[in-house]
Amino acid sequence: MKTVLALFLVATAMTFEIVSSHPPPGNVPTDWITMTDPCIQKMKDQVQEEIKAAMTYLTMGAHFSRDVVNRPGFAKFFFESASEEREHAIKIMSYLLMRVLVDTWSDGLTALTQALNLETHVTNKIRDVIKVCEEARKTNNEVFNDYHLVDYLSGDFLEEQYKGQRQLAGMISTLGKMNQTHKSLGEFLFDKKLLNGEPL
Ligand SMILES: *[C@@H]1O[C@H](CO)[C@@H](O)[C@H](O)[C@H]1NC(C)=O
Ligand SMILES: [Fe+2]
Repeated sequence: MKTVLALFLVATAMTFEIVSSHPPPGNVPTDWITMTDPCIQKMKDQVQEEIKAAMTYLTMGAHFSRDVVNRPGFAKFFFESASEEREHAIKIMSYLLMRVLVDTWSDGLTALTQALNLETHVTNKIRDVIKVCEEARKTNNEVFNDYHLVDYLSGDFLEEQYKGQRQLAGMISTLGKMNQTHKSLGEFLFDKKLLNGEPL
């Protein structure tokens, strides 16, 4: 579930910037780019539609998982539908990436830096949840310290956040040094290691 949600966020946050005015670095010719603007826009809109459908199916899956509904078959069906819609969004993105010039983040170091800032934001949001839940009140105003939820969020989610943030900080440090000495060759080598799952 967590992976599914994370991928949703990535897909939703991904905004395509179509660049047709200037050639990409390396002076690659652009005559092969033949897709036209209104068509590109419709495809970009379709990505959002598929993501929206996936979110709706996630909600449906959650509904049929409720104790009073208790229909695991329906829940399974709708959660799988959500994954399918997410796949559709990724397929359309991949198609656009094949046909048009997409300019989003200028380089890997910039993207990793933005990722670390994003994770820091998410961590603060989880801390906000903990803050509210550790001294929550029942409808009769009686204090109810939700120890279990706070333990779960601290032990599971914050644990993952801090590990992820440390990993990103390390990656930024390594890539920053590689960029300083070897510029784009540094990023090329870093990318190869990332692809092979080597520690960075
Ligand atoms: C990469 O290094 C160069 C100097 O070697 C620097 O101008 C550039 O800003 C660096 N890139 C990033 C994203 O920090
Ligand atoms: Fe779809």
